[in-house]
Amino acid sequence: MTNPQWHEVDAYVTDLLVPADEALTAALADSAAAGLPEIAVAPNQGKFLNLLAQVQGARRILEIGTLGGYSTIWLARALPADGHLTSLEYDPRHAEVARANLARAGLADRVEVRTGAALDTLPLLEKEAAGPFDLVFVDADKANNPHYVAWALRLSRPGTLIVVDNVVRAGRVAAPDPSDPTITGTRAMFEFVANEPRLDATALQTVGTKGHDGLLIARVTS
Ligand code: SAH
Ligand code: DHB
Ligand code: MG
Repeated sequence: MTNPQWHEVDAYVTDLLVPADEALTAALADSAAAGLPEIAVAPNQGKFLNLLAQVQGARRILEIGTLGGYSTIWLARALPADGHLTSLEYDPRHAEVARANLARAGLADRVEVRTGAALDTLPLLEKEAAGPFDLVFVDADKANNPHYVAWALRLSRPGTLIVVDNVVRAGRVAAPDPSDPTITGTRAMFEFVANEPRLDATALQTVGTKGHDGLLIARVTS
């Protein structure tokens, strides 16, 4: 579902508060030119992620699902000069486009895009003691969302913020189709969060240029 007014409001907000930016515009253009799906977060959502990372004072960020690195640029720009972001991406073609976009944005020194299925690379991060991360953004294959949030918790410290994208999917989260693994995965993630005493969480619906969707945020309490 979409609505012309959602686009008008996103355009109004973005024109005033999210000024057009060479590196971000080029990242989207080159991602589209390379045939990547146009499923990056919207500009005002990217700015929201950037503000969350700033509020969090994040020095180490983990992203699961890089695509062309659009959300990665927004998150990495919140890091101090000695901060670090690790982004996990299954598709080597996506990773290659993302690395070029990040280099053009001047962030190559702060960001590592790691290729492979996240469920294979997350255990490596643990072995390397890459965490604890201050903020984790989960935005990959939705069927694995419960595993990703469990891994985010493993790689966290008290105070870590976990953000999960696309948790509403035009309302389908509340009208579940048992044959859709993206929705059953997201519902299993909600149940994991609800039953995990170390997580304090909520979720918000969003409408805009990306349709009707939503974000879950969870804070690690202990
Ligand atoms: N965060 C990006 C959008 C990510 S789209 C942005 O907002 O700009 C989801 C990405 O997750 C795709 O690039 C897809 O290839 C990747 N992905 C899918 N399955 C994955 C897996 N098992 N491990 C890691 N990445 C995966
Ligand atoms: C899809 C994935 C996303 O991460 C997103 O933000 C929007 C759509 C998808 O797989 O359809
Ligand atoms: Mg997403």
